[in-house]
Amino acid sequence: MIVAQLSDIHADGSADAMVRLDRVLAWLKPMRPDAIIVSGDLAEYEHAQSYWAVAERLDTTGSPFYVVPGNVDDHHEMGKVFGVQMGWGNSRPFNCVGVVDDRVRVIGLDVTVAGAHHGEAAPVLDWLAAVLETDGPPALIFQHQHPFLCGIDGKDRNICRGGDGLAQVIMAAGDRVIGLTCGHVHRPMFTRFAERPATMAPSVARANRLRLDGKDPDISDPPGLLLHHIQDGRLVSHVVMVG
Ligand SMILES: [Fe+2]
Repeated sequence: MIVAQLSDIHADGSADAMVRLDRVLAWLKPMRPDAIIVSGDLAEYEHAQSYWAVAERLDTTGSPFYVVPGNVDDHHEMGKVFGVQMGWGNSRPFNCVGVVDDRVRVIGLDVTVAGAHHGEAAPVLDWLAAVLETDGPPALIFQHQHPFLCGIDGKDRNICRGGDGLAQVIMAAGDRVIGLTCGHVHRPMFTRFAERPATMAPSVARANRLRLDGKDPDISDPPGLLLHHIQDGRLVSHVVMVG
């Protein structure tokens, strides 16, 4: 089973942002993913029209899709377009849950903080623990901000805080959680969190440069996505850059 992850579309009313999204979706089309998850920052400007444009394109994939907000999203406008489908009420957090083909649960966490670029896991922990206590297939958790230190110069200021509490909830769930994935830093990366695989999807929008230990090659990356392939409870995440 394939769960495709898009992140950081940053639709802004420009043609360029949608061209990048169209390129990614064109690559994805023959893969016919069982589900698509979008880990936040769907729109940065012109929010109302941008969400409709993104939703229209996600609809054309024919795959069920699940979205959570990121720090540049507008909850009000996002809720108008996606709220009914995601089961959101009128107030934050905008979490979501989907069961994909009876074999995997995708659990989206809204870890955004109003008016801030960092995230905070604490407000969603009780909800997450309750969801994980219900019967269901193993879960892939997705959210916007990274709950692990990514090490890129300057990018850990805007981490998802409360990572220790989040890790405790995940570890208490045992094999009901197979991994966690996020977006936000606009670079693909792979590490461990809560003793499980943890990934970050590349952005659909312009990538950040890879600044590590003060070193900074001047190379820009094309848009990309992750394909999470899940088989017999094993998770293998493939990174795809759509040049
Ligand atoms: Fe972000």
